[in-house]
Amino acid sequence: MDVFAALESRSSTRGYTAQPLMREQLTALVRAGLQAPTATNRQEIHITVLDGKDPILAEIEAEKNKALDAPPAHNFYYEAPTVLILSGETDFRWTAVDAGIAVENIALAAEGLGLGSVIIGCIKNAMLGEKQACFAKALRFPAGYSFQIAIAVGRKAVQKQPHTWDEAAAVTWLCAEA
Ligand SMILES: Cc1cc2nc3c(=O)[nH]c(=O)nc-3n(C[C@H](O)[C@H](O)[C@H](O)COP(=O)(O)O)c2cc1C
Repeated sequence: MDVFAALESRSSTRGYTAQPLMREQLTALVRAGLQAPTATNRQEIHITVLDGKDPILAEIEAEKNKALDAPPAHNFYYEAPTVLILSGETDFRWTAVDAGIAVENIALAAEGLGLGSVIIGCIKNAMLGEKQACFAKALRFPAGYSFQIAIAVGRKAVQKQPHTWDEAAAVTWLCAEA
């Protein structure tokens, strides 16, 4: 798929079939993440690939929901067959930006493969809370790394239109418009 076609058609998928992804698809997603640029080429982003049935995901979900009165209707990764968790060097000043670039690369690669994805930030407090060390160990984060962002990927069971935007509010042209 052409890069502009992927940019235009990607949207967040919040419903997946149970069908697991193939190894080649997972490899392509990981590779897309690693192909992302990093500040000073530090390459400080680590990717943990998880099966959607991995019990650690239920533990993260429970930690996320601890303060809620009632559990939400769906879990944080919408029952996707695969979840990728991106961790990064905690004390490097560009880690959050680099993780954002990497996760978008993965989202666009998923779109290019005809798959759906949704970027997941809602587990941030749970991942960085009192169980941080326990989660970091279970997810095999390298030493000195912490949770940055996650992404769920799978075959789309629902369709959603890409978002729209207000270009006048979001862009200031200080050069001549083409
Ligand atoms: C940093 C970040 C965190 C996000 N966290 C979540 C999340 O936890 N759960 C969720 O359903 N969507 C999450 N999203 C998806 C956004 O809600 C979504 O990208 C936005 O509504 C625009 O819709 P679109 O992706 O379909 O274009 C996140 C997106 C970003 C960039």
